[in-house]
Amino acid sequence: MTRRIILLGIFCQAFFASASRHVEQSFYIPSDLQNRTSYTVFESLASGLDGPKVQPINATTFDWWYFDVVSTNPADLSTAVVTFFSTPPSAFPFLTPSNDITVAVLWISYLNGSLWSTASYADGATVKVDGDYTSGTWNNSGFSWTSTESGYLIEIDAPDAGVTGTIGFKTVAPPHYPCGPAEAGQNLELGPHIGWANAISDADSTVDLHIDGNTRFAFKGTGYHDKNWSDVTFGTHIASWYWGRGRLGPYSLVWWDVLSRTGAETFSAYAAKDNKILAASCAPGSIKARPIGQNSTYPPVLSTGNPSGYRVELDLGPDGKLELDLTVLAPLIALNPEYARFVGNMSGSITCGKHTEKLTGMALFEQFKLTE
Ligand SMILES: *[C@@H]1O[C@H](CO)[C@@H](O)[C@H](O)[C@H]1NC(C)=O
Ligand SMILES: *[C@@H]1O[C@H](CO)[C@@H](O)[C@H](O)[C@H]1NC(C)=O
Ligand SMILES: *[C@@H]1O[C@H](CO)[C@@H](O)[C@H](O)[C@H]1NC(C)=O
Ligand SMILES: *[C@@H]1O[C@H](CO)[C@@H](O)[C@H](O)[C@H]1NC(C)=O
Ligand SMILES: *[C@@H]1O[C@H](CO)[C@@H](O)[C@H](O)[C@H]1NC(C)=O
Ligand SMILES: *[C@@H]1O[C@H](CO)[C@@H](O)[C@H](O)[C@H]1NC(C)=O
Ligand SMILES: *[C@@H]1O[C@H](CO)[C@@H](O)[C@H](O)[C@H]1NC(C)=O
Repeated sequence: MTRRIILLGIFCQAFFASASRHVEQSFYIPSDLQNRTSYTVFESLASGLDGPKVQPINATTFDWWYFDVVSTNPADLSTAVVTFFSTPPSAFPFLTPSNDITVAVLWISYLNGSLWSTASYADGATVKVDGDYTSGTWNNSGFSWTSTESGYLIEIDAPDAGVTGTIGFKTVAPPHYPCGPAEAGQNLELGPHIGWANAISDADSTVDLHIDGNTRFAFKGTGYHDKNWSDVTFGTHIASWYWGRGRLGPYSLVWWDVLSRTGAETFSAYAAKDNKILAASCAPGSIKARPIGQNSTYPPVLSTGNPSGYRVELDLGPDGKLELDLTVLAPLIALNPEYARFVGNMSGSITCGKHTEKLTGMALFEQFKLTE
């Protein structure tokens, strides 16, 4: 017993110390579940923003890295989403059942909105952390990423999964956490037991893939990357949520509006312009998202259909108040009661004193609803 405690102590110290120093550190994530207590980080250190936050992964915990790109033209429904999961289906029930918890999934929508997706299982993963930069290799899956100060690059060489190519992200807005900028001592909980770190709030992105060996799928758009993690099974505390992000004129926007099972609503609002943060807050009133148009019941429940749009109010700090209307242009995931991801256009109205400015843009957004 004593021996076990000492071993855990050493592991724990190594895990937390690793992210606090600006040294390169490798984390190995086995492909199978660990039957042990997971250590989870919910407060930021001075660096390591994009590093692993849960070690090891057991049956009720998860950690993943999410990337997306959306076109900037409402007539072009092209999108690409890649998630590098270290996530057991027992902790996140929307994954295909498997004993392998290290899987990379790619979802794309073509210009015409038609969908294609693939998954590639890895035999373990390695994530390297160097300050705030990371690289990840999902071993033998053909999926990996690297990052430097100027951005991220996803490289895919997975012909068995039907895809090869690259997705690049040239960062244009600062990273952030749910309640503020990327600095030490920030709260990382977006809602109850949901950790979140946003390494790329906005980027100029280039997607260049070959699908099924012949179809070239290439477009330029805006890109985004975050990671989420939890020390409990997904849905334990969550009733529903709205997340979205997009570029509206010169503004890079990210928003969350989360409803817990106790009825508590939590928020996270972010806006940046000229590569500077204008607003990064989780204060009530910093943002509010509600469905509009068809099926606009709030709160949404499993039996309510998907809405045709959303209204998002977001405080832009010194630049005033933003009222954003989002219109769903196409779903990015097959219809199901719990989860929807959309591409859409947005029209925003920014009021600062007597001055009102109107802007438009494209967005990628989602909703979860987990209760009836
Ligand atoms: C997990 O560990 C506990 C205690 O060490 C043991 O009782 C249990 O059978 C293990 N479960 C699995 C699935 O190995
Ligand atoms: C997994 O880790 C979580 C979080 O620390 C803990 O509550 C849970 O008991 C662990 N499960 C096992 C099987 O050790
Ligand atoms: C949509 O575009 C894809 C890729 O170009 C093509 O394979 C598919 O047939 C198109 N679907 C429709 C309904 O036109
Ligand atoms: C990755 O797979 C190769 C075999 O294909 C193996 O030699 C290597 O140890 C694996 N690396 C990790 C980190 O699992
Ligand atoms: C994590 O965030 C991404 C987008 O930011 C979202 O697609 C995903 O559903 C989130 N999931 C969890 C469990 O936090
Ligand atoms: C509204 O919900 C109904 C019933 O689920 C569905 O048929 C319809 O497509 C939904 N509307 C939109 C805009 O998704
Ligand atoms: C989205 O674009 C369509 C035309 O493609 C337009 O009718 C609609 O008003 C736009 N919605 C928003 C919120 O900008």
